[in-house]
Amino acid sequence: MAARGGFTSKLGFILAAAGSAVGLGNIWKFPFEVGAGGGAAFVLMYLLFCFVLCFPVMVTEIAIGRKTERNPVGAFKALGFSNWRFLGLMGVLAGIIILSFYNVIAGWAFGYFFEMVRGNFSIGNEFSDFTANVVKVGSYALIFMAATGFIVMKGVSGGVERAARFLMPALIVMILALVVYAITLPNAIEGVKFYLIPDWSKITQASTIGGALRQAFFSLSLGMGALITYGSYVGKKDNIISSAAYITLTDVGIAFIAGLMMFPLVAFNTGGVIDTTQSGPGLIFVTLPGVFENIGPTWGIIIGAFFFLLLSFAALTSTVSLLEVPVSYVVDEFQVRRKRAVIIMSIIIFAIGVPSLLSYGISDFFSNKFALPFGGESANTTQFLDFAFKITEVMLLLGGALITVFAAYVWKKKNLAEEITSGYSSYNTSIVKPVLNFCISFLCPLMLTFLLIVVILDNFAGINLIEMIL
Ligand code: PHE
Repeated sequence: MAARGGFTSKLGFILAAAGSAVGLGNIWKFPFEVGAGGGAAFVLMYLLFCFVLCFPVMVTEIAIGRKTERNPVGAFKALGFSNWRFLGLMGVLAGIIILSFYNVIAGWAFGYFFEMVRGNFSIGNEFSDFTANVVKVGSYALIFMAATGFIVMKGVSGGVERAARFLMPALIVMILALVVYAITLPNAIEGVKFYLIPDWSKITQASTIGGALRQAFFSLSLGMGALITYGSYVGKKDNIISSAAYITLTDVGIAFIAGLMMFPLVAFNTGGVIDTTQSGPGLIFVTLPGVFENIGPTWGIIIGAFFFLLLSFAALTSTVSLLEVPVSYVVDEFQVRRKRAVIIMSIIIFAIGVPSLLSYGISDFFSNKFALPFGGESANTTQFLDFAFKITEVMLLLGGALITVFAAYVWKKKNLAEEITSGYSSYNTSIVKPVLNFCISFLCPLMLTFLLIVVILDNFAGINLIEMIL
């Protein structure tokens, strides 16, 4: 097997894993999903899912990764359950597809950095022209893919760890500063209300509940083995439970403050009315440039450029983790050299991303023909990119449900506990153990399976299972 690097410290792992989790999912996707999912009710469900259903999955993934020191496919084989390799393969596939479109959006963010540097604040109103400029967005996406490949080539501890150490805190400070600015604007309070005061009638919507769970999985990078892969570089002395807690809290915290930044800005822009036209994938790209313009010519450029630069870096630490999954798979399983694996995978993934690249205005087919015929409220998508997004999110949920079943009933809780004990010697006598075991054996398998069905019916058939049951 090719030599594997390791993280240089526990903090290094936490930063890299948090870097994987924190990305476009928090700052670009979370706010518009909250908008589409009905505001505070969605936020509440999201928080609940992150801690109750996602946290156990995260611990399981990291434990399997550290135990086996393998990629997601090799991990199941190393544990002696070769017939579960399909689960790892599904993860590798999900990673490839996610990266293919994620890279396109990351390219937009990167492109916006240059627009801000030029002081082109009107780009917000020209978002659809921007995304339809295939040469431009294609080049940005290509640069982004190359940067991702370059970092992955250097190995996890080289690039990722070092970058995350500085960039994550900078991003947090930046968003917090924008929160302070946003809430002082006229009508901001309407946005805060929408974000924080639940409309309980929304809580029975399949789009709210299912959307919150999809968002939680995507944002925490769960269900596809990204954390099995990163876990494989973790030291035996590290405490998996506390690491997972830090990663979850960082990710949720950043998403939360991103929402707190966004909704007052939206309310300000619309004179206090939060409507759904403001949501959708254009949200930050349409709204924020105008906000930076309001700040003033010089500071607007500085803050705007810095914001999109940090957003690009946040996306970069996520794309790196996405690429690391298929790369470690071919490196471990087919003895391909890392450098070659990176180059081949990057080219393949970029190619798979072309339909997504064309799906915001350039190609009529990829832009308009991907409406699901029986799609429900949360499925009113026509773009290929959104379509691919929906499919992979279902894969993540399925992966999460299956991995808890695997850990509890196939690999067995005893072995999981043994792995967690390394680095957390009092685990066997702590209260965490029975709680985690309960989640992994019952709560996660049952709830994730049920909610997976809710999501599929809502997305692909327009049926709200929750309301049918109630
Ligand atoms: N969690 C990342 C984000 O929020 C995306 C991601 C998903 C990364 C799955 C890795 C695996 O942007």
